[in-house]
Amino acid sequence: MSRLLLVSNRLPVTVKAEKDSVSVVRSSGGLATGLSRPHERSGGLWLGWPGDVSRLTDAQRAQVESQLTGLRCVPLYLSASEVSRFYEGYSNRVLWPLCHYMLDRIPRQDRDWEIYRKVNERFADLVVRHYQPGDTIWVHDYQLMLVPGLLRQRLPGARIGYFHHIPFPSAEIFSTLPRRQELLKGLLGADLIGFHTVSYVRHFSGSLLRQLGLDTDIDRIIWDGREVRVGAFPMGIDVSAFEPLARDSGILEEVATLRRKAEGQRLLLGIDRLDYTKGIPRRLLAVQRLLEREPAWRGRLRFIQVAVPSRTQVDAYAAYREKVDELVGRINGTYGSVTNVPVHYLYRSFNERQLVGLYRAADVMLVTPVRDGMNLVAKEFCAARPDEDGVLVLSEFAGAAAEMDSALIVNAYDVEAMADAIETALEMPEDERRSRMRALREGVKARDVHWWAASFIDRLQGLKTMAEKGLKS
Ligand code: F6P
Repeated sequence: MSRLLLVSNRLPVTVKAEKDSVSVVRSSGGLATGLSRPHERSGGLWLGWPGDVSRLTDAQRAQVESQLTGLRCVPLYLSASEVSRFYEGYSNRVLWPLCHYMLDRIPRQDRDWEIYRKVNERFADLVVRHYQPGDTIWVHDYQLMLVPGLLRQRLPGARIGYFHHIPFPSAEIFSTLPRRQELLKGLLGADLIGFHTVSYVRHFSGSLLRQLGLDTDIDRIIWDGREVRVGAFPMGIDVSAFEPLARDSGILEEVATLRRKAEGQRLLLGIDRLDYTKGIPRRLLAVQRLLEREPAWRGRLRFIQVAVPSRTQVDAYAAYREKVDELVGRINGTYGSVTNVPVHYLYRSFNERQLVGLYRAADVMLVTPVRDGMNLVAKEFCAARPDEDGVLVLSEFAGAAAEMDSALIVNAYDVEAMADAIETALEMPEDERRSRMRALREGVKARDVHWWAASFIDRLQGLKTMAEKGLKS
């Protein structure tokens, strides 16, 4: 395997400052676990932002640097203005809502494009500084869509991959973006461009045709005298880490305690970052609708909704939080009693053990985003159910729905249909629950995060680069 240079907006670490010292802890997120093996094995580097370190003293900064070096991570520090205009601005106020079909959330005037371009140039400069001939470069996600093109100009013979972790929208939607052509050309600097689903691949090809007049073979494009490959690589989770936790006796005791406390009740569960793409309000309305139309469920349902704080400096997220708070209050005010409320809403982060406990305790898992690139929560829930029980209600607008057709698939915009699906899930006979869960678990195990990373890297490394073809160097 050649040396791998991984490039992502965030490094796979969290910097934790204590009084005088500081520690750099590995993250447990999807990308971090998925790429940890190839990162270790190839002896390569991971380049990205270590998060906000502006409050650290010089001595603490030096400690961070040396710990990052030990992990073979290369930091790219973002200034406060870059965080606000590149990360919160163009990435999360423009590209994020655009790719999730939420055009009305995009500011009318786009003021942050230049800084997005400049930060992408800074990433490309850093990669070029560390690049050695023969390295494979793998760039990740919408924050860095110009990086493949910038690298291609400076390293024409390099092997470059790009993976888009969020949906790629239809050509109609993508064409509304003033900078649509620059972004497409940026991506075309790669040799291999990966998406989670075949639909996103089709959408991307549609945009290439509409914006650049490129008539593609879906998975093969000729651009600027080079061949660019495109493919669907559905991301998975680290099943091997979930299985032991789901059988851990300490966690099973917690599960039993939770079930005892909710005696006589069925548990519905939602776990999401608090993001307006996740469909939490409609999900709450579906629970409310069920309680409204079926009085027999009143007092017999407990809906636990975990909402992990995210991008709190972006105004749309603060407004969304207020909307969710208000709905929870309204439902609990209407259907709660002095001893019991239907919605248990928890706005905080949970560690992996706590999450597995919740997955294991749930009767029904509600994963109902209005749009989502993949949604790994749906997969985590199945991996955490070696008892082969529990029903997954899954939005057709999550990338995961393309693979997980044994879930109850719902239209997350249709509140009444979601109320129906919740009821069907609650009343589903045991043998049907088991056969659906068995099928779901097989898929989740077969295509885990290590399979995902290895298939992308194998495909990328199997392609001939320009240098190998002797076309240009
Ligand atoms: O789904 C895209 C993604 O960038 C994930 O990789 C990440 O876990 C999540 O969104 C939150 O991203 P961030 O906190 O870096 O904005």
